[in-house]
This record gives sequence, C-alpha cells and structure tokens, in this order.
Amino acid sequence: MTLLITNIKELLQIRERTELKVSGADMKELPAIKNAFLLIENDVIMKFGEMNHCTNIDADKVIDASGKIVLPSWCDSHSHIVYAGNREQEFVDRINGLTYEEIANRGGGILNSAEELQNTDEDSLYEQSLKRVKNIIKLGTGALEIKSGYGLTVDAELKMLRVIKRIRENAPIKIKATFLGAHAIPKIFKSDADAYINLIINDMLPLIHKENLADFIDVFCEKGYFSLEHTNRILKAGLEYGLTPKIHVNQFNAFGGVPLAVKNNALSVDHLEELTEEDINALKASNTIPVALPSCSYFLSIPYTPARKLINAGLALALASDYNPGSTPSGNMNFVVSTACIKMKMTPEEAINAATINGAYAMGISEDYGSITTGKKANIIITKDIPSYNYLPYAFGDNHIDQVIINGKVVE
Ligand code: NIG
Ligand code: FE
Repeated sequence: MTLLITNIKELLQIRERTELKVSGADMKELPAIKNAFLLIENDVIMKFGEMNHCTNIDADKVIDASGKIVLPSWCDSHSHIVYAGNREQEFVDRINGLTYEEIANRGGGILNSAEELQNTDEDSLYEQSLKRVKNIIKLGTGALEIKSGYGLTVDAELKMLRVIKRIRENAPIKIKATFLGAHAIPKIFKSDADAYINLIINDMLPLIHKENLADFIDVFCEKGYFSLEHTNRILKAGLEYGLTPKIHVNQFNAFGGVPLAVKNNALSVDHLEELTEEDINALKASNTIPVALPSCSYFLSIPYTPARKLINAGLALALASDYNPGSTPSGNMNFVVSTACIKMKMTPEEAINAATINGAYAMGISEDYGSITTGKKANIIITKDIPSYNYLPYAFGDNHIDQVIINGKVVE
C-alpha cells in the first residue's frame, strides 16, 4: 500500500536518522522543503523531496496538500492519561482560593484520584482512558508515554499498567509505559514512608518485571512526596529491573533532584518550573533531556519552566502535555506548542522541535519517530490551508489540523 502526498506547501522537520535530538541554538532551525511531496509505503516514510522530482510515482492513494503544511506527529513524552473519573470539584475549590498543596494536604489531589481508580474495574478504566487516547490522536499525537501512579497499591498499580498495556496493543500510536508507584504516599503509610517504598521495591517491581509492564521508572521527587533518599533508592531498584529513570522534579521546590537524576542516568527530568544553576550544570554534563509541561503551569498558575535559560545554555528541551486529572486535564499538544511560544518565549521552530524530535528522544524512540526521515514511521500531521507554520502557535485555540496519518493510514 502506497500513499503519495503532493503539492505540500511546506514539509517540516527533515532530519537525518542519526539526529536523535536537537539542542541549544540548533533548536532555532527547522529544516524544511517548500512545494514538496511525501511518499509513504505501508507504515514508513519511503521518499520525499521537491515537487519537480515527483515523477514516475504510481501510488495506491494520492492526497493533494495544496496550501497545507505537513509535519511529524506530536511526540508527547509525559502523560497520566489512564485515570478514573475527574477532579473538577478541586478545580472549583482552587478558583475559590484553596491551593493545590492545601487540597493535597486534605487528602485530595493524587490520593483522591487513587481512591477513585482503586474502585474502578479494569474494563471501565480501559474504556475511559482509550477515549482520551483516541481524542488526542485526532489532535495530532502520534507517540505517547503513559504513567501509572494513581493506583498506589500492588493491585491497583498492576491494574493501571495492564490497562496501559492494553492501550499499547489496541491503539494505533506508539506507547511507552512508565511505572510511577512513587507518585504519592498513601494515607495508611503516612507515618511510615519507608514501608511504602519497601512495598514498591519488594512487591510491585518484581511483579511488573514478570509481566513486562513498564519501560521506565518515575518518582515524584518533591517536598511532601518523595525525598532525595527515597528517589535514589527507587531509581536504583528500577534500574536493576532494566527500567530507565524519567522523573518528576523541581515542580515546586529545587533541592538536588536534578543532579540525582543525572547520576542515575535518567532519560529525562520533567517539570523544572524551579531551576538552579547547579541543575543546569548537571544537565550540561549528561544525556538527560529536560521536559517542560506548560499546560500544567497554565492550569495551576505556577511559574513556567525557564526554557530560554535551558536552551541558551546549549541544552535540548522537550515539550509534553502532562495530561492528568489534577494539574493538566488536557492532552492537546497544539495548545502546549502555542503556550510554549506565548509564555516561555520559545520560537515556533524551537517549540516544534521540542514537541517532535526531542519529545521522541525523551521516550527513547527518536530513531523511529519525531522527524521526516526515510525509514521512520509514517506518523504525520497535515494542516488545513494556513499561511505558514508560525500560524500554528499564533492562532492558538483553533484546530489547524486537517488530517492525521498514523502508520501510513489516514485516521478517520
Ligand atoms: O505531573 N506532579 C505530580 N503529578 C502530576 C499531577 C498529579 C495530580 O495532581 O493528579 C503532574 O503534575
Ligand atoms: Fe506528571
């Protein structure tokens, strides 16, 4: 099966297969071809170039993309899309003056979602979550990381991870799974956090390993959640089972979690609304990629990750949604890209790089996703007729996507 896209106004994000991420000043470049064609065979990108080289190509299906821009699908490297119910009451409570922290201290927040998930059966959790996945595919997401962490018991964490596995098997997009048992300390372990950490290490991890349910391990390294010592123990235990660290760090407080993550060879450090010079120096000496989550900053009215500081230091930066019921009830990567430009002063080129190739890097899949490269998976976005790619972040809040192609097939 071959699919040929012709007369593309601009084909964005052309990269060599060896370019696994884009860093620093290079993020300002978005290599592109004007008036282009793209040929897909089955689920991979076969060939592309200028329209005047599009001769003697016989394809099963042709899409005329006159006036339209084509780019790789969004690679969303941080989500909690598997959850039960919602937290709209906490949203209203925050409008009425309570803080996220105050809500959590009253037993709301993550513990609220955990209780709801514990009481939801696996099929219902799957259906609720799959609906959200289908929705973000239409919004252009072609690869997604999903975390556990709303279970917080052996059974409920396994239930979440099995649901992620089922989504991985049934949704058309690429899915990576992360074990986040260390998302919050359950009420019954309030006075004995070490006992919960032992449960994670001695009970949850071996079972997850046995069923092959996770690729990565995550910890919410934050005051009131998991300390540096806890984080270190959990990451090391995960590494023993072959799980690469990707951690939540510096959302509200910076106290050494970033250097710790780097020491444990973390693939990514996510949030970083707070950031120190020490953190930047640690990242510079590593392959760990920082990940910013601007929709979370928007929704909670907390600082935005200082993207300029990170990029100007020569680092790569990825953008992700953080889709979850508490701090970011949205998985719209188009909004993420707009917000990064508007609030974090990233240029459209930087934001698109951060949400495609660098997002793929933050999931360890940039050899196959995140750019227009021969041999990579044909997961692409065809926009509506828009003036230029700047228009994507500029005209925020509108849907600029005309068609989405996943594994070479048009999503209906
Ligand atoms: O990434 N920071 C921790 N975890 C999520 C939010 C969890 C929640 O409020 O349910 C986040 O923002
Ligand atoms: Fe998160």
